[in-house]
Amino acid sequence: MQDDSVGSYTWDFCYAFVSSNCSCQEGNRAKYISVSKGETEESSKVHQDNACEKTSYVFLRKELPVRLANTMREVNLLPDKLLSQPSVRLVQKWYMQSFVELLDYENRKPEDPHALNDFLELLIEIRNRHNDVVPTMAQGVIEYKEKFGFDPFISSNVQYFLDRFYTNRISFRMLINQHTLLFGNDTNPAHPKHIGSIDPNCNVAEVVNDAYDTAKMLCEKYYLAAPELKIEEFNMKAPKKPIQAVYVPSHLFHMLFELFKNSMRATVELHENNKEGLPPIKAKVTLGKEDLSIKISDRGGGVPLRKIDRLFNYMYSTAPTPSLEPGAVPLAGFGYGLPISRLYARYFQGDLKLYSMEGVGTDAVIYLKALSSESFERLPVFNKSAWRHYKTSAEADDWSNPSKEPRDASKSKYKANR
Ligand SMILES: Nc1ncnc2c1ncn2[C@@H]1O[C@H](COP(=O)(O)OP(=O)(O)O)[C@@H](O)[C@H]1O
Ligand SMILES: [Mg+2]
Repeated sequence: MQDDSVGSYTWDFCYAFVSSNCSCQEGNRAKYISVSKGETEESSKVHQDNACEKTSYVFLRKELPVRLANTMREVNLLPDKLLSQPSVRLVQKWYMQSFVELLDYENRKPEDPHALNDFLELLIEIRNRHNDVVPTMAQGVIEYKEKFGFDPFISSNVQYFLDRFYTNRISFRMLINQHTLLFGNDTNPAHPKHIGSIDPNCNVAEVVNDAYDTAKMLCEKYYLAAPELKIEEFNMKAPKKPIQAVYVPSHLFHMLFELFKNSMRATVELHENNKEGLPPIKAKVTLGKEDLSIKISDRGGGVPLRKIDRLFNYMYSTAPTPSLEPGAVPLAGFGYGLPISRLYARYFQGDLKLYSMEGVGTDAVIYLKALSSESFERLPVFNKSAWRHYKTSAEADDWSNPSKEPRDASKSKYKANR
């Protein structure tokens, strides 16, 4: 997402400290990750000169425990019955352990080279410890539902919580990855120009193609066929030039991979016996002044409007529950594809929306910010409003027809009068 009004850039990843007005108790809180302008030079070299491990250490030893603390306080507001599920307890234990370990560095001086090395190792350990947080938390919610059934109030709280919890996790891993990639030994030789996990010249169409190819392999494994991809680009800023973004390619890949899997499944299931073959999936990448948008369109039969919102529900999937065997890569079934992808898009101030026409197909659009200066982190804050969200009981619907299911006219007692 390059601002071409200022000529050529290199982007130096930096942490910007913004004293926030949020009501969290932990004092000033670094509010965003930003990608700022540097001098014109090789980006990685500039980074080496500019980025300072000590500064990053001093920032992270405070910021990481603050982010963990925000999440842990919010977890505690979940209903007791959910909190007591073994998987939720396990997640809490991981968070607590990481929090305590990070606090050890509160008073260790950045001038001490051992402190810097130990801290880096600790970050890697914490990242590994938290690898399975998403499926473990999901398991906790399933355990709860199996034991206590569905409760709409709790379900909406869980949805609210998981969106915030997973966003916090995305941000937490982003910070850890930046530090370990920039200052550790695990830099990626395949991408010498990346700044940590950020690609300052991320070619969007290339990521679209990569995600398509990976989804295609999975789709062919399950269905022995996969739709073709047709890709188009519209660059309003520099016509005919490939569209580039300052972005985290792995985040973009994640979103596109999920969208392609969904489109492929819908397309193959609808057209499996179609003599004319499978209609292609179309991808359109566009760059305007404000938005960089990527639309994935399929002819997979679409979804009725009534159901669109629930597709973003963590517990909703129309695919059979996949096997949890290690190494198995299912095409669908956890119901996490869309909601987590939307969090990735929103994390850098973008969004993900689904427009569907039942009977025909679905357009899924990823919106990213065209300017990197606008792509700062969007983080959940633990404050009074968040607290109130968990405590306020569900109110009666203030619109008629509270049921979202279509009415069965044959059972209506007013049938004769209509
Ligand atoms: N392009 C699409 N066409 C038709 N249905 C879709 C499409 N994308 C998503 N869906 C529906 O949304 C549900 C949830 O999608 P997702 O969150 O990716 O979870 P999963 O793919 O694991 O079921 C899918 O099970 C499917 O019913
Ligand atoms: Mg999916």
